[in-house]
Order: sequence, then C-alpha cells, then structure tokens
Amino acid sequence: MPAEIYNSIQEEVLALKKKRSAVILAHNYQVGEIQDVADFTGDSLGLARKAQNLDADVIVFSGVMFMAETVGILCPDKTVLIPDLDAGCSLAGMITPEDVREWKAEYPKGVVVAYVNTTAAVKAESDICCTSSNAVKIVESIPKDKEILFIPDFYLGTFVQEKTGRKNMTLWKGYCHVHVMIRPERIAELKKEHNKAELIMHPECGCLTKSMRYADQILSTEGMVQYVRGSHAPEFIVATETGILHKMRKENPEKNFIPVTDHAICNYMKQNTLEKVVLSLEHMQYEIKVSDEIRRRALQPIQRMLEVTSNGNGRPR
Ligand code: 13P
Ligand code: SF4
Repeated sequence: MPAEIYNSIQEEVLALKKKRSAVILAHNYQVGEIQDVADFTGDSLGLARKAQNLDADVIVFSGVMFMAETVGILCPDKTVLIPDLDAGCSLAGMITPEDVREWKAEYPKGVVVAYVNTTAAVKAESDICCTSSNAVKIVESIPKDKEILFIPDFYLGTFVQEKTGRKNMTLWKGYCHVHVMIRPERIAELKKEHNKAELIMHPECGCLTKSMRYADQILSTEGMVQYVRGSHAPEFIVATETGILHKMRKENPEKNFIPVTDHAICNYMKQNTLEKVVLSLEHMQYEIKVSDEIRRRALQPIQRMLEVTSNGNGRPR
C-alpha cells in the first residue's frame, strides 16, 4: 500500500479509536498493516488477559472468532467487534458440543480439557481450557486418577501426553490445516542448510513429534516472538503461520527468519484487512454475541485455566 494512503488510514484509525473509546487487539498472525495500527499484539492467552484489564468501551479484536468470543465471554461489559465474521478456524470446527456430550455420557467423572481453539458452545461443555502456552501445566493440574478428553488438537494433545506421561487421556483427532503443511523433511533440510539457526515450533505442527529432536523451542506465537528477541542466534527457522514473521523482522532487523514453508498462511486470519478494521470502527461491526447461558457456562473453564496459570510464559508447559 502506498505510504500516503497508509498514513491517512492510520490517522483515520486513530480518530475513530478516540471517538469510540476503542482499543485494537491483533493476533500475531494478522497482516502487518493491522499489527502496526493495533494497540496490542499477542497470542490467544495474552490477548484475552490484556482484554480483561483494558479501560475501553469497545475492543476491535482482529483475529479469529474463537479468540474474539473468549474476549466477549471475559468482558461482558465491553462491546467486542470482529472485522470479518468469516474469520473462523478449521481446528475449532472439528468438534461439536454433541461430540463432547457423548464422551461425557460414557465418562461422567472424566475431565474435558478444551484448547481455546474451540467454539463458545464447546467450551460450555468443557471443564477447563488451555492454550498453546499452558497445556502441559493444565493437564498436570488434573488429579491423576481422572480420565481426560483432550480436544480438539491431536498434535498438541500428543505433545502434552508425552510431556506428562498421562495414560488415561483420549485425544480428539482434530488438526489445523495450516500447521499440518509444515513437513518434517523440510525441517530436516533447513536444519542442515542453516547450521547456526535455531528452530522454533508451534505445538500445533503436525510433525511435532517427528521434528521435536531438532527443535530448540516449542512455544506459543507470543512465546516465539519473545524468545527471538532474547536469543543471540543470528538465524531462526520458524515453524508456524507466516504472519508472525512481520513482528519478528520488525523487532530484530539484524536477524534472519526462515519460514519452513511460505504456504503456511491461515486464510481465516487473513479475512481481516486494514480496511475492514476501519469499517469495523466506523459502523461498530461485527459485534460478538454469545448467549447468556453459553457465556455463563463457557466462562467457568476459561476462568479455571486463568486461575491455574496466573502467569503464562509462552511455553506449553
Ligand atoms: P497462539 O495462542 O499460540 O497464538 O496460537 C493460536 C493459533 O490459532 C495458532 O494456530
Ligand atoms: Fe485455526 Fe490454524 Fe488458523 Fe490457528 S492457524 S486460527 S489453528 S486455522
């Protein structure tokens, strides 16, 4: 976008934010233009925590629906907007409330651990939530004799199971269509070609267990951003959605960032554009609506997670 157009849009965003008493929260996978006008960027846990402590009437949540819903559930006194209603999530779409109810009918004393990449209606059927930055810690907080259903990400679940040694854990076979494209053969090649590079991986990667031996760090998106800021390595192989490279490159111009694949692009995250963020503020669209009943029930597993992990550090432990 030409600089003069971008500058005038930025001014418009500033004026609209003031008019609406609004704050823009953007996920680390959003396009750079949105990240640059956002008040805060981060991972799903960090943004949810941030939303709770904001002094604003309106939150424009530039990310995907399950994240905006979580913020809506945590902040019922605020108007939460998402710039595009089609910003869904393939992983969140892989389990329904009915699926969870069926498991619970079989294991009435079991515990359902829901990755935040689930709809509000699925959270409402679950016992405790987790994110990519705290999944191991959450599972460790559950008494060892309890049967666990971990939903919906099979790869994160496998990682957690390996880390905790939990046997009585059923893993839902869901996956993210972006992170399954990250292949172990390519990671091995890149590691050989760039022997000074550190490999940082998101725990949703389909090849996580195969590539873990090469991984220097397994982190949430914000955990990755913070890690590269502090590391002295000159190069990083980045195994996640490519939107994250914007912030990494901007903050660390002297370091080299190599995506495992340029095709790791989440089409849902990219439904949001800078123009749609402006329209969102202008027309107060699209408001996140969660029914009172679902909100009340979905709040409990989210709050339990926040209590167990009062201080996330970007690692799934
Ligand atoms: P983070 O919570 O690590 O930002 O991940 C969310 C997500 O959807 C990754 O695909
Ligand atoms: Fe969902 Fe995958 Fe997109 Fe993350 S990258 S929002 S898990 S579809």
